[in-house]
Amino acid sequence: LFGFKTNKVSGYFDPITPSKEDKLIVPKNFKYDVVAAYGDVINPAGEKFGSGADYNAFFPIKDSSTRGLLVTNHEYTTIFQLGPVGDAMTAEQLHSNLYNQGMSVTEVYRDEDGTWKLDPTSAYARRINGYTTFQLTGPAKGIPALKNATTAQGTFANCSGGVTLWNTVLSCEENFAETAAASKLTDTHYGWVVEVDPFDKTYLKKHTALGRFNHENTAMGLAADGRVVVYMGDDKKDACVYKFISKGKYNASAGRFNSALLEEGTLYVANLKSGKWAPVTLDEVKKSKTYAEKSDVQKKFASLGDVVTYCQEAALLVGGTPTDRPEDIEISPFDNTVFIAHTNNDNHGNIHGHITRIFEANNDLGALEFDFEIFAAGGRQSGFSSPDNLAFDSNGNLWVVTDISSSSQNKGVHKSFMNNGLFVIPTSGSAKGKALQFASAPTDSELTGPFFTPDESTLFLSVQHPGENTSDLSKPTSLWPHRQGDKIARCGVVAISGFKL
Ligand code: FEO
Ligand code: CA
Ligand code: CA
Ligand code: CA
Repeated sequence: LFGFKTNKVSGYFDPITPSKEDKLIVPKNFKYDVVAAYGDVINPAGEKFGSGADYNAFFPIKDSSTRGLLVTNHEYTTIFQLGPVGDAMTAEQLHSNLYNQGMSVTEVYRDEDGTWKLDPTSAYARRINGYTTFQLTGPAKGIPALKNATTAQGTFANCSGGVTLWNTVLSCEENFAETAAASKLTDTHYGWVVEVDPFDKTYLKKHTALGRFNHENTAMGLAADGRVVVYMGDDKKDACVYKFISKGKYNASAGRFNSALLEEGTLYVANLKSGKWAPVTLDEVKKSKTYAEKSDVQKKFASLGDVVTYCQEAALLVGGTPTDRPEDIEISPFDNTVFIAHTNNDNHGNIHGHITRIFEANNDLGALEFDFEIFAAGGRQSGFSSPDNLAFDSNGNLWVVTDISSSSQNKGVHKSFMNNGLFVIPTSGSAKGKALQFASAPTDSELTGPFFTPDESTLFLSVQHPGENTSDLSKPTSLWPHRQGDKIARCGVVAISGFKL
């Protein structure tokens, strides 16, 4: 992996060294274009790109790797959207908070000079935010715990996500509680996996069968018998790893109708002691000792809808193992092993986190038994700390971004790592498990949402929350992307590409 030998981003590169600069740094012979940043107008209606850019998914238009729709998650707001917040948000701040979270669909293209740009004339570009109406599906639809609701107002706290086998996007509601409370919205309407179709603005669902928790991501694959399997992390200290297995089987010719598979199936939670996937069902909850002994628990869990709604509690009752902040999960396209970023957990000294690799029995994603290894551990020896989003390239390398919190960066035991970064870790061969740094993030930010175009000539990447430690708007800690005359930092999405040979 040394020396520039191809214009694929996933090809050869000269690794960079850690940096403290307020810059996005990429290797020699690579460049980046800011495709969209907070506040940019994305369509003729004048809708604006939101804040806290996280997950990205690129959908080619006419099989192109140089024009397509980019779906971006917007996870949260900072002082640059809201201004200083007092004891409670003002009406204007509440509006900004709901408007700027959610998702953006933008149309992006690479022009003749090789520069990636946003097309503000796009007929597809639109915002999905805290005001957009979603249809609820699955066992919690219409139940008393959700106030009998069959629809929900909006989506927010959209962290990472995943693409489906039928070309839609799954977006994950992670830390939803604060926004729901501030806007007096029913909190059981959030913490779900939402599905959107970038090409169809009427298609907006929340799939309750996938459980309600601090959803980080989805990673979809197929069991050996054709059922759909979705792996999911719950980004919270001492939280569990889940997988959903559909009841029915995937039918490639049915296209988007396969989405119904996400409405009925079984949710499982990983028990790392027994190496078994435990069903998170009403029957299993009822078998637990706590259920037998406590009348409030019996009252809470009266239906499968209640089980998926109070999923974190149900998962522990059925034997799920609490782990160290499971964030992104990726299924290896080479051998069906499953990689989980366990970011960190200062509750019990896992300061730098690790990447866990699950080996499903018979390499079948539908298996109910597994084994695992710690594939790579964060720390000085590996050169990275606090792994978060993961992505595979076609060479079998795992691309890993880091999430050292802004309050911990560049000090104490995090000093040597400097700003957050993007790392490339081979999953086989002599360099297996060794991290090479590909990018360094601006001040007080993290890099999120790595996603390749199909030909791997371009990598989309978000720069999330630059300058988030700013407490006084006259002294921002970052001014990335350093637009001329701009006085605030702007989160956004970049396209990284190699120069032509
Ligand atoms: Fe939103 Fe788990 O990072
Ligand atoms: Ca994340
Ligand atoms: Ca991922
Ligand atoms: Ca994170």
